[in-house]
Amino acid sequence: IYCGTFAHCRSLSELDICAKGAIGVDEAGVIAFIEREVEEIEDVIKKYDGWNDAEVLQSGESGFFFPGFIDTHTHASQHPNTGLFGKTTLLSWLETYTFPMESSLSSLSKAATVYSNFVSRTLSHGTTTCAYYATIHVPTTNLLADICLKRGQRALVGRVCMNMMSPEYYRDASVSDAVKDSKASIDYIRSIDPSGDIVKPIITPRFAPSCTAECLAGLGQLAKETGTSIQTHISENKPEVQLVRELFPESKSYTDVYDTAGLLTPKTILAHAVHLSAEEVQTLKQSGTKISHCPASNTALTSGCAPVRQLLDVGLTVGLGTDVSGGFSPSILEECRQAIWVSRFVAMNTADDAKLSTEEVLYLATRGGAQVVGLDGKVGGFDVGMEWDAQHICLGAVKEGGEQEGRFAGNVDLFGFETAEDRVNKWVYSGDDRNTKSVWVRGRLVHRR
Ligand code: GUN
Ligand code: FE
Repeated sequence: IYCGTFAHCRSLSELDICAKGAIGVDEAGVIAFIEREVEEIEDVIKKYDGWNDAEVLQSGESGFFFPGFIDTHTHASQHPNTGLFGKTTLLSWLETYTFPMESSLSSLSKAATVYSNFVSRTLSHGTTTCAYYATIHVPTTNLLADICLKRGQRALVGRVCMNMMSPEYYRDASVSDAVKDSKASIDYIRSIDPSGDIVKPIITPRFAPSCTAECLAGLGQLAKETGTSIQTHISENKPEVQLVRELFPESKSYTDVYDTAGLLTPKTILAHAVHLSAEEVQTLKQSGTKISHCPASNTALTSGCAPVRQLLDVGLTVGLGTDVSGGFSPSILEECRQAIWVSRFVAMNTADDAKLSTEEVLYLATRGGAQVVGLDGKVGGFDVGMEWDAQHICLGAVKEGGEQEGRFAGNVDLFGFETAEDRVNKWVYSGDDRNTKSVWVRGRLVHRR
């Protein structure tokens, strides 16, 4: 029974904060009851059968429970490159930093280090579900799935496909290789977790410029035959959009390239979506395709400012993605801040309603993300019947000698007038992984500090 303060998003605009709550989580990790206005925990225990021996965990006065974060787009294979982008933009960044790093992960021992470090890092930042890109190598992609399953992090794990405009040393030799290797990884990942509750495969064409039309169509067909999710990038930066125009002259648009290949489905996650036309947005909406917004990466690589308010107003489903190492942080909390900042730059050039609020970005980071990765109604919030994917946030305190725990340690309520809502805002704007004390997936403790 998780007792004390909890907070979660009910809708895009509604953050529900309960100060005197008690959430009962059963042995399967499912939320069995939620009580509010609890004065004595004994009364709750009496009310429900079979909870006499339950362990009671308190949020603490300045702490609260919050749903685990959902990272809808990141590259585990680029973790060692975090912070390396200089003044490059997408296409030069891929050549300079990304392809050499990814190609080196053919090595099982190197991949074991990189992937277990990255899973530890994302878990420590409260990410309970993550959509990962690995590399083109099947054995190490499968190793990433093994690590996620063992550590208990929900994950979609994708073997990257790329058969053109890629270096000789790092590419699929043929369309049949791309399809066959994708299938091999799908089969492996389904064999280690047949229920798909923790790890699932995801078909991963890198992006249109690295895949021929035949390769994209082959992967679209594979997705149809196997019922697998799909992830790729779309319309991230202007030279890339121009390149797609040149490479696919018969296509109406970047979106049309994917549509033609059968890659736009309700189980498709497209990252970035910065420079789409209104018609493309409509096509995405009609196909049920989901969007991963990656603001830190879009700024780092000077790709642009995604018009998130417009995408939401049209009714597209949007989540947040760290996009390491285009993005420089494995933290979805950081991505929340970046989403807020970018929306303010959009607002400065358009209209005030482009601004995203704290509640809105937290929604994208949790329930929105759950919809993007196909876990709607299962994770991302606290409702009876949902699974306990959660983080225990504790705000820091200044200790003797000025030592601080948590970045905003000096900001804790010294004078007694701080509301729970204030605490959530302080966490969003100035918290970090030091405030994330425990993390659970389906009731299993997967991280503690
Ligand atoms: N487009 C194609 N590959 C990549 C990648 O690895 N990262 C980002 N941000 N965009 C891409
Ligand atoms: Fe990416």
